[in-house]
Amino acid sequence: MSRRIGSVFATEAMSSSVEKYPAATRSHAIATQSGGQALRLMSRRLWSSGSRRLLAPEYLCESMLVPFGELDWEVAFYHLSPRLTLDVSSIDSLVREPEVTVVLAPEYFGSRLNPLTHAALCHLRRNGCRIIEDWTHSVLANEREPIDLAFASLRKTLPVGDGSLVWGMHAQLEPTSGPGLLMWEAMDLLALGCDPATLDAARVAARAAEDAFFVELEPARMSDRTEFALAVMPWAFMIGARRKNARVLADEISSFPVVNGENGPDVPSHLVIQASDPVTLQRRLAERGIFCPIHWPRPPQLPVHIEFRKDLLSIPIDHRYNADDMRFVANAVNACHE
Ligand SMILES: Cc1ncc(COP(=O)(O)O)c(C=O)c1O
Repeated sequence: MSRRIGSVFATEAMSSSVEKYPAATRSHAIATQSGGQALRLMSRRLWSSGSRRLLAPEYLCESMLVPFGELDWEVAFYHLSPRLTLDVSSIDSLVREPEVTVVLAPEYFGSRLNPLTHAALCHLRRNGCRIIEDWTHSVLANEREPIDLAFASLRKTLPVGDGSLVWGMHAQLEPTSGPGLLMWEAMDLLALGCDPATLDAARVAARAAEDAFFVELEPARMSDRTEFALAVMPWAFMIGARRKNARVLADEISSFPVVNGENGPDVPSHLVIQASDPVTLQRRLAERGIFCPIHWPRPPQLPVHIEFRKDLLSIPIDHRYNADDMRFVANAVNACHE
């Protein structure tokens, strides 16, 4: 095992053969710098057309809520299934006046809406609800039309410094220098440097970029560098590698339940496992050079009566890794058995 496993991307050499972006053709999408900016754009648009109540999943990251904070949304939280898919009856029970209601519907960790959930959301849309699908974790899935609006923050699953796409609406955005270029700088440093000073500089730049992404929510255009990277990305290879890595890892992990195992044609973003103490597991894996994110810390906006899952750890399974890497990770995970 010669390299480390982790979720922060370095700049990569891309393919020269142009393949079509799988989630939808780019020409139909608005390109912003971040998912937060995409959400702010949609929040403003929906508010100006009369929406007032937001139904959000009870498990989510703070950056999915903050963009709505500038307006006076009434926010309610619906349940998710143990596998983090949508619980339609919980959503239904919270809809009072459909014509002022927006449902934020994520496809967590790459699991696409199942046909029944998709039909239920289409039904809500026909009754007047607005739907925002969050495709951040399912950007590599097969193309399908959004039910209403959809967006995907790209840098969570792809080697790009910035970028989010929004489907289902139109807007003209101005370019800014923004945090995206700083994140690209961090990725360049990661790609260049094996020496500790360069890696440290990369970490500092990445942290500064993350902090800036969190607060720079005025919608602005995706960087040209990301536009170019999307045009030359080896999509088929990336999709194949994710599916295979997830399968190998899920097969080899024997000590912790897998939350989002292989699921038909879906393309997982991570392999998520359930552990009673994910923080300790995260630390023990980091000691072996395996860096796994915990999605997510509890957002401070969440009302205290809402239970928040604290038993999940996400393992990177992307195209940078192969089956041997996954076996190495599985052995390490199994060795940390509680
Ligand atoms: C599922 C999901 N949606 C949206 C966002 C917001 O995206 P961004 O960080 O690009 O603002 C995140 C960020 O972590 C996310 O994980």
